[in-house]
Amino acid sequence: MTLVPVDKTSMGHHLLSFPVVSDIRGKLSVIEDGTGLPFHVQRVYYLYDVPENSRRGGHAHLQLQQLLIAISGAFSVEATSTDSSYCYRLADPTQALYIGPGTWRELHSFTANAVCLVLASRQYEESDYIRSWDEFKNLLAGHK
Ligand code: TYD
Repeated sequence: MTLVPVDKTSMGHHLLSFPVVSDIRGKLSVIEDGTGLPFHVQRVYYLYDVPENSRRGGHAHLQLQQLLIAISGAFSVEATSTDSSYCYRLADPTQALYIGPGTWRELHSFTANAVCLVLASRQYEESDYIRSWDEFKNLLAGHK
């Protein structure tokens, strides 16, 4: 199964759609051996039990690519890259938000049952994080 672009908001962040196998028993989406994904998945993690007033993220990455999926519940993602800034509301397990390198992200407004599944292109490396907004803005300015 191949993910298809929904609305290419920008190079740095946009929605992709998973095909769905649906019948009266419910729905199923599959990721099999990475087929159809925009990168090779090296890491999977998930956020859960996030308090409603909590904010996650608040950083960008130098090289990491990620796909965020609202497996359950809903949450918002504000994404800022060189070409655009956009606030997504993820609430549909058939959609994945692609976040590329050089994209600042803030996750907030989680519902009580929200689970955010993250597929990542690289293993965890603290050296890949840009955690300072000023440093991020300087990096963007350097790319214009
Ligand atoms: P962080 O990426 O800052 O969380 P978020 O962006 O969701 O707010 O990570 C929070 C902590 O978890 C940090 O101390 C590093 C650790 N961590 C790992 O050990 N491995 C991982 O794969 C991730 C994503 C985080």
